[in-house]
Amino acid sequence: MTLYPAEYTRIVVFTGAGMSAESGVPTYRGRGGTWERYQWEEYACQEAFERDPEGVLRFHALRRQAVLQCKPHAGHEAIVQLEKNHGSVTVVTQNIDGMHQRAGSRNVIELHGSLWRLRCPDHGVIDDVGERYTTDHCDRCGGWLRPDIVWFCDNLDEAVVDRALTAISSCDLLVSIGTSGVVWPAAGFPVAARENGAQCVEINPEETDMSYLYETAIREPAALCLPNLFDYKLL
Ligand code: APR
Repeated sequence: MTLYPAEYTRIVVFTGAGMSAESGVPTYRGRGGTWERYQWEEYACQEAFERDPEGVLRFHALRRQAVLQCKPHAGHEAIVQLEKNHGSVTVVTQNIDGMHQRAGSRNVIELHGSLWRLRCPDHGVIDDVGERYTTDHCDRCGGWLRPDIVWFCDNLDEAVVDRALTAISSCDLLVSIGTSGVVWPAAGFPVAARENGAQCVEINPEETDMSYLYETAIREPAALCLPNLFDYKLL
């Protein structure tokens, strides 16, 4: 399949863990997925953090180390090229690994936060990149800093969801890549896009519970499919 970006006014690329799979970052669900090996109740919810902040921070530090061993792949690069060749591309991602930004994407909405930020409930968010945390306590109140990630049982940041929904409900092309689509609000995205008449394309080697919401499916892995998907000749 070929998509001609010049035919669209506003493009949204929506990504999930499958986008990073070929970089070596494990997906969450399915064989070898993170939630098969670890219980989220112990590592990825506020309750666990309150019980054992050091353990939860250690788990996320390990994830940071694992992500730093991985590199963006040709599919991430293809999205960067799309941004360079088209006036309006928004990347909406459920991924917390920062891989799109590392590849060079500029307009990225992170629905589930980032591994590379920490947050004090009272004094806001700080950037903290690198293998180890530079700090794990707030320098204003001395309280524990938690990863600025949307964990299980957390609410999504409404302002971030609003930005994503604004982009999605006004786009005319939605390309969804590597998500099982089961976590809210992902399932609503193709519906919102189609209400605006957008073409909705799913890239995923496997059919998902949400596949029926997309009119076109490309059953290939992201790094194989994306480098040949866009044709800029009409620009
Ligand atoms: N290319 C494209 N898709 C792939 C690839 C690949 N190389 N490899 C796997 N996939 C697909 C799988 O078939 C699956 O449908 O990626 C999807 C990954 O699904 P999940 O692991 O459920 O990841 P995601 O949809 O991002 O999960 C959403 O759930 O646990 C929470 O907060 C976490 O952000 C995460 C959210």
